[in-house]
Amino acid sequence: MMRLRSSIDRWGLVARILHWGMFLLFGVTVFIGFYMVDLPRGFAKYQVYSRHKSLGITLLVLAVMRWLWRLIDTAPGRPVMPRWQSIMSSAMVAALYVVMLVIPLSGWLYNSAAGFPLQWFGYIHWPALLDANPSIKVIARQVHEAAVYIFMGLLLVHIAAACKHHWVDRDDIMRRMLPFR
Ligand code: HEM
Repeated sequence: MMRLRSSIDRWGLVARILHWGMFLLFGVTVFIGFYMVDLPRGFAKYQVYSRHKSLGITLLVLAVMRWLWRLIDTAPGRPVMPRWQSIMSSAMVAALYVVMLVIPLSGWLYNSAAGFPLQWFGYIHWPALLDANPSIKVIARQVHEAAVYIFMGLLLVHIAAACKHHWVDRDDIMRRMLPFR
């Protein structure tokens, strides 16, 4: 049976869908982000930016859902490991949860401070956080970019750790997060 909630030895369906769905969406959105900045000015650039922003809003909503779900869901247990490792593991997870919010939030702040309107895929008007503000615009832009680099660094460690659990320790940390058994 497909369990929505996590159990002691397996992440539930909701946690797995959020994990792998956000993996794909973040990949696409970050890729578009790096690609779009060098496009020549024009309608095509505007369209690509709009896509990036809509995907970013989607990621923001998903991140909030993930935070909430993590608070009400149980997490599978941890295998026995040295103390430093379990502290590192908790710190990594906390850092990932923070950056997955900071990235879309700073993008939204940047867009608001720049005074650009925002429509979610052209359907839903998304409000601005504040009025146009040139100095906040600069800071939000820097935070947005720095957070993406931090995210990519964290992700490298995260993926390396998952691979080590799977192929070196040979425990079931990786298996219990995989989409299918
Ligand atoms: C190839 C890519 C990835 C692999 C192989 C992978 C693997 C894993 C595994 C095996 C776990 C479960 C750890 C455990 O059971 O304690 C996990 C948890 C987690 N992953 Fe990933 N992951 C990947 C990409 C990502 C991405 C892109 C993000 C960020 C959006 C992410 C964020 C997280 C978070 C926050 C947790 C902790 C879940 C929680 O404790 O609530 N992962 N990942």
